[in-house]
Amino acid sequence: RGPGAVAPDLAGRHVVISAGGTREPLDPVRFLGNRSSGKQGYALARTAVARGARVTLVAANAALPDPAGADLVRVTTASELREAVLKAAADADAVVMAAAVADFRPAARAESKIKKVPGRDPDPIALVRNPDILAELSSAKTPGRVVVGFAAETDDVLANGRAKLAAKGCDLLVVNQVGEDRAFGAEENEAVLLAADGGETPVPHGPKEALADEIWDAVARLLRGASA
Ligand code: CTP
Ligand code: CA
Repeated sequence: RGPGAVAPDLAGRHVVISAGGTREPLDPVRFLGNRSSGKQGYALARTAVARGARVTLVAANAALPDPAGADLVRVTTASELREAVLKAAADADAVVMAAAVADFRPAARAESKIKKVPGRDPDPIALVRNPDILAELSSAKTPGRVVVGFAAETDDVLANGRAKLAAKGCDLLVVNQVGEDRAFGAEENEAVLLAADGGETPVPHGPKEALADEIWDAVARLLRGASA
């Protein structure tokens, strides 16, 4: 497939993509966050629009230009992201969870700025778990809807990825290795697509658009299989 000659293989499909990184407030001026830039999720939105899909992009704290042709929903926290994704997912053919969702949030949000007190050590920050949106989407799965997760791993990347795919119950897991120049904030990415049916597709180092197109190839294949 050459540039400018994109097959509209997602025409008539509604796809939902989450992107960026959630922020969990501690007080009016501080939050717990992560390093996700949102670039991979935005690349997924642009490429899905190019392939003819109706696209809902649920973006958490990404400082990136709005992707033309996509419905953009901005959120801050994991619970806002969950609400927006579940709402948009109601009539979706595919949901791709590219966002880095905070696993935990502060148990309480201080109404006023937390001040330091001379001579006193800070209080520890109590955390509680956030809901696992991907697991929720996968367990309450509508037949025919494709659910895709992402995982950034270290150490035995493939073994960790396989275990996570099984635990989450999604159809596809995009696994990348975290390290220098990889994944967070970078322009390029390198990954392995793990499928629930045992399939394993390595995607060489390249632009995030190229990885996005590989993901849509796999999603389109699963959607065709589901409606056949
Ligand atoms: N995810 C989610 N809700 C959460 C946490 C993660 O939907 N509360 C999604 C992410 O968007 C991603 C996938 O789950 O698509 C995997 O995220 P990851 O952090 O790698 O998985 P965890 O199950 O949180 O495992 P870990 O303990 O390794 O962080
Ligand atoms: Ca996590």
